[in-house]
Parts: sequence; C-alpha cells; structure tokens
Amino acid sequence: MAKISYRESHKYEGKGAEYEAYYQNKAWQRFLWSREQEIILKILEKYFAGRDVHLLDFACGTGRITELLENRVKTSTGVDVSGSMLAVAKEKLKRTEIIEMDITAENVLKPRKFNLITTFRFFLNAEPELRSAAIKTLAELLDEDGYFVFNNHQNSGSPWIKLRYARHRKKYPEGTFNVMSIEQMKKLAEGAGLEIVEIYPVGFFNPPKIPVSYRLNLAIDWAAGKFDFLNRFSESPIAVCRRKLKTGINKRLSFRT
Ligand SMILES: C[S@@+](CC[C@H](N)C(=O)[O-])C[C@H]1O[C@@H](n2cnc3c(N)ncnc32)[C@H](O)[C@@H]1O
Repeated sequence: MAKISYRESHKYEGKGAEYEAYYQNKAWQRFLWSREQEIILKILEKYFAGRDVHLLDFACGTGRITELLENRVKTSTGVDVSGSMLAVAKEKLKRTEIIEMDITAENVLKPRKFNLITTFRFFLNAEPELRSAAIKTLAELLDEDGYFVFNNHQNSGSPWIKLRYARHRKKYPEGTFNVMSIEQMKKLAEGAGLEIVEIYPVGFFNPPKIPVSYRLNLAIDWAAGKFDFLNRFSESPIAVCRRKLKTGINKRLSFRT
C-alpha cells in the first residue's frame, strides 16, 4: 500500500483542537515550549536587533510560533496545508496573513522575500521528498541577509529518544518512529544552499514514566547547556541557518543555550 504523504496528516476534522490540547496538557511539551519561546526571542534579539522583520512561519499549524512572533515583527505570514489546523490559528492570530496551501505544489509567495523563516515540528516527520522540496522552496523565499530557523523534535542523539525508539521498534516492528540527527539537520540545510550557523539545545531530561518537575528540568537544561559537548544529546534542538557563504571558509558550528 502506498504511504500517505505527511501533507495529509493534519487535515482531518478536529486535528487542530487535538494539537492545541497536546501542548496544553503534557508537562514535557509545556516545558519544551517554554524553552523554545525563550530561545526564539533570543534569536530575534541577536540576529534582528534594529531591523524590520518580515516573518514567514511555514507549516504554522495552529499558529504556536506565529502567535509568539506576530506582534514583534513588521509583517507576519503563516502557511499551512491543513484547514483544520488553520481554523485554530485564525482564532488566535490578529496581524498575520494566513495562507492555506501546499508550498511545494503552488507557491503563491514566489515574488516575495522574507528575512525570517521559521519551520517547527515539520522536517522530522515529513518524508524525504517533502523535506527537500519544502526547504528548497523556503530557501528561495529567504532574503539575502535573512535567517531560516527550524527544529528537530526527536534528535537521535538524545538518550531518551534512543530508548523510546528501541521500545517502539520492539513493540511495533512495522510502525514508524522518526528520528533525525544533527548531521542530518546539517545535510538538509546544505541541500538547499544554506548553512547552520548556530544550534540551540532544548530538553535534556525526559525519562519515560518518571515525572520531573518544571523547575528541575529548567535547572538541568541550564546546567547541561553550559557544556558544548552535551548539547548534541538534547531532545529538540533548534538550528539557525543562513545562505551558504561562497568564501569556502568552513566555520565551526557553535552551540548555544
Ligand atoms: C506538527 S505541525 C507543526 C505546527 C507548528 N509549526 C508548531 O510547531 O506547532 C506540522 C504542520 O505541517 C503542515 N504541513 C505538512 N505538509 C505541508 C505542506 N506541504 N505545506 C504546508 N504545510 C504542511 C501540517 O498540515 C501541520 O499543520
């Protein structure tokens, strides 16, 4: 049987409301989201201080990232292929142009440029063809001096993700449990003429079935983030990319907390 494309995965009725509840009810997801917000705002301050920001939030879904940013940018555009997810986004977003489309099929944004493009919780689960078509299209929409920010929400370097992966494989040998490495993130960016300039680690301590308080998690993230060599073990790293410089100089990839 042919596999269904990730494009179809969030289209069913009620998916938007289900997705919102997932973020509100799960302690680990709430923790990750608080770290993501902190880091996204840090990125905004570091790379865009004093500049007008023209945001494209690709695969914006229910508008989680878009809502955080829309009042901090000059223009805000959100794109998603799912009407169900966008119905929730439309209730939240006040200053965002919302476009329902598959960016890999009909790119109505083509003549425009954005200096900040964000893509969260998309690449990990998108099939290889969709991953590469989407990032290439997004790279074309990125301004010369713009930044592309994306995350990988199941980093294969995380010990807890490794554990979950092994358990899943044992329980459902035919099932799907996607993981992505930092190396794959770099290759994905390079395939679209981009380079990762910085990686921010998110989420270190997520043992299955052991409740860990928000404060303890925050302390662990803070402490682990002090040591560069630990960063690749985080669960949900965020990468900042720009157009690949043509100088041939290979800069060392830096990690930040
Ligand atoms: C897990 S959601 C992420 C939503 C949001 N970025 C977040 O982090 O909360 C992934 C989204 O990708 C969208 N998507 C999948 N393929 C797409 C495509 N080809 N064009 C636009 N959106 C797509 C889905 O409809 C879904 O809403």
